[in-house]
Amino acid sequence: MEFSELIKIRRSCRSYKEAEVSEEDIKEIIRTAQQAPSWKNSQTGRYYVALSDEAIETVFNALPGYNQNSTRNAAYIVTSFVPGISGRSSQGDMEKEGDIWGGYDLGLQNAYMLLKASELGYDTLIMGLRDTDALRKYFDIPENEIIMPVVAIGKKNAEANMRPRKELDEILKIR
Ligand SMILES: Cc1cc2nc3c(=O)[nH]c(=O)nc-3n(C[C@H](O)[C@H](O)[C@H](O)COP(=O)(O)O)c2cc1C
Repeated sequence: MEFSELIKIRRSCRSYKEAEVSEEDIKEIIRTAQQAPSWKNSQTGRYYVALSDEAIETVFNALPGYNQNSTRNAAYIVTSFVPGISGRSSQGDMEKEGDIWGGYDLGLQNAYMLLKASELGYDTLIMGLRDTDALRKYFDIPENEIIMPVVAIGKKNAEANMRPRKELDEILKIR
């Protein structure tokens, strides 16, 4: 698939039909996420995937109601990163932005992840609000890992709307 087509079809999906998300596809998607650049190739992103009924129900219950309504019939990918590694200078000091760099690296990985999912025919929704305590307990996520968004993944039930973007001159300055 052409890159520009991929960018166009990747939209936040808030209605899913019952459909299998295969373990093989999840592995291919996360392998693609691993190809993203990261600070000193530190690769601090981590993924916890809910494919079984029990795991899906647990993640579902860790979401606020409006995100539950948007993601019925979807599977979930919980994303996190190991802090204190990305963002360190060659002397070992943490840059003043600190662990934001770990979040930056994870965001790059997650962008690759979403695009690969789209290429394989899946639809996705990033969700920022979630009960991290419940997710940490269920997946046994180490205490130091910072849990970032949960991403719903499945097959769309309805076409997602194209959300508008700001005018380029609002976000871009070239001199
Ligand atoms: C960090 C982050 C958190 C988000 N959280 C939610 C969320 O909790 N619920 C939701 O419906 N959409 C959520 N979104 C999706 C955005 O609303 C969506 O990406 C944006 O409106 C642009 O639409 P598009 O993804 O279809 O291009 C989130 C997106 C990001 C990047």
